[in-house]
Formats: sequence, structure tokens, C-alpha cells
Amino acid sequence: MGFTGLVWVGFAIGHLIGNLLLLVGREAFNGYALFLETLGHGAAIYVAEAFLLVTIGIHVWNGISVALVDKSAARPIGYQVTGNAGGRSRKGAASQGMIWTGLTILAFLVFHLITFKFAYLFGHVENYTLNGEEHVDLYGVVVERFSQAWYVGIYTAVMLLFGMHLKHGVWSAFQSLGLLNKKTTPLAVNAALALAVLLTIGFLFLPVTIFAMNESFAAPAGGLHL
Ligand code: HEM
Repeated sequence: MGFTGLVWVGFAIGHLIGNLLLLVGREAFNGYALFLETLGHGAAIYVAEAFLLVTIGIHVWNGISVALVDKSAARPIGYQVTGNAGGRSRKGAASQGMIWTGLTILAFLVFHLITFKFAYLFGHVENYTLNGEEHVDLYGVVVERFSQAWYVGIYTAVMLLFGMHLKHGVWSAFQSLGLLNKKTTPLAVNAALALAVLLTIGFLFLPVTIFAMNESFAAPAGGLHL
């Protein structure tokens, strides 16, 4: 679980950095999407997607197994009362709720892919001419989605849960890989918290800014023109 989780953390960091090109404008973002699509004669994206699919499959399978084992075999009757484990306990809402934040992120991913990546299969999308060729205006799809308050609301809620999942998941990944000891654990816990906060703010910043400044983003050149 640790390794597959960290693969996805790496993807999330790269995805956020790429998505920040939305702030630059339509051509920059669409050009970046096209670059990824055509990398390695179009093969690289399929390899990356297959790797992501396998790793998330393993991660979800293990996560559900751990949750079920925790509930049944280890503790058939369950605790009457749950609380702080005492001392510098790391038990809290984030660690206790991993299965629920995880399942919510999984549902979000399905919704996210249907409405962004496969938007062209489920409704009308505009095309965009780049280097003399027609492509889906992915920038336009994102800006149109983030002009709707309910959409931004869903993203805000899910990104907060995503942050909670990362806060506990990142340091415990290092622990389950056997990379931590008494000295390095507090450092890993703080680094995980910092990473979770940065990724949450980054992913939240995009929908909120695009919603608040939709006219600027919807203009032909798009982007954040201050
Ligand atoms: C502000 C938030 C986000 C924006 C604007 C955004 C934008 C996008 C866009 C435009 C695509 C389609 C790319 C393409 O078709 O080439 C995409 C795909 C994807 N997004 Fe996001 N995303 C966001 C958050 C997230 C989060 C939090 C995750 C989970 C880690 C995520 C995971 C994915 C995945 C797995 C794909 C498919 C990648 C592929 O198959 O190439 N996204 N996203």
C-alpha cells in the first residue's frame, strides 16, 4: 500500500504542476495536454495510464482488505469507546477515516475522468486548432466546469478529504516501507502534513480562482490576467 500510495502522490504533484498552466492560458494548457498525448509517439501516456491503473487497483484492494480485517478478524466485537491512544498518539480523524476518505476519492476519480478526460464521449465539447490540427479544447472543458458553483463545491469538499488522506497516508507509507525509526517519524509526520497542505491548497486554488474570475478565464486567450 505504501509504494502504490507514493506512486499516486508523485502523480498528484506532477498533475498539479501541469494543471497550473490553466493560469497561463488556453494555448499553454492545451499545448501541454497535447505534449503529453504525443510523448513517445503517443505510447508514453498509455504506459503511464496502465501503471496508474494497476497501482490504484492494488492500493484500493489492499485498503479495503485492511479495513475489513480491522473490523472483523482483529476485533470481532469492536470498541465501545474510541479515543486518543495516549501519549503522542497519531490516532485521529485522518487515520481513522482512511477507508472513507479513500472511497470518496475513488468515486471522485470516476466522476473526474468522465467529466474531464472523457468529456467528449458524454456531451458536446469545443475543438481547438493547434499546429494546424483539431483537438479537444480541454482548457475550455475545465473552465466551463469550474464556472458552475456545484462543481466547485464538490471539488472543494473532495480536496479537503484528499488532504486528510494524504496527511496520514504519506507518513504511514514511509513507515510501512520500513523507512522510519523513532527519530525520523516526527519529521515524516510533519513533512506529510506540509505536503498535504500544499497539495490541498494547490488543487483548491484552481477551481476557486477559475470560478471567481470566470470572465478572464473564458476569454479567447484565457488564463489569469491580473
Ligand atoms: C483542480 C483540480 C484538478 C484539475 C483542474 C484536473 C484536471 C484534469 C484534466 C483536464 C484531465 C484530463 C487530461 C487529459 O485528458 O489529457 C485530468 C485527468 C486526470 N486527473 Fe485530474 N485534475 C484535478 C484534480 C485531480 C486530482 C486531485 C486527482 C487525483 C490524484 C486527479 C487525477 C486525474 C487522473 C488520474 C487523470 C487521468 C490522467 C490520464 O489518463 O492521462 N485529478 N485532470
